[in-house]
Amino acid sequence: MGSHIDIKGREFELIAFGAGRRICPGLPTAHRMVHLTLGALIHSFDWKLDKGITPESMSMVDKLGFTLRKAQFLQAVPIQI
Ligand code: HEM
Repeated sequence: MGSHIDIKGREFELIAFGAGRRICPGLPTAHRMVHLTLGALIHSFDWKLDKGITPESMSMVDKLGFTLRKAQFLQAVPIQI
């Protein structure tokens, strides 16, 4: 959030869709869908962290594999509004 990194393959800090001539042709669809889906989830539910986890104790450690992901998955629990 607040970052101005271009995800369209020109800045190598974030190349989720690849770069150059083989860049993902689904990028415009995927970019809209990710935001729409996330927005719909945030809008439709309240969310809480799993039992015993607080924002302060939440692990932000990452794990390098084919992609860089959180070492411990975030368990967010939806609450019906
Ligand atoms: C968040 C969703 C998506 C991510 C993160 C993603 C990511 C990627 C990546 C990293 C590549 C490889 C690029 C490269 O070789 O440099 C790729 C290729 C490709 N993607 Fe996606 N993609 C997504 C969604 C989609 C969607 C929605 C479509 C189609 C509707 C799509 C169709 C393709 C195709 C056909 C290729 C092969 C392109 C080629 O090899 O020339 N992708 N994608």
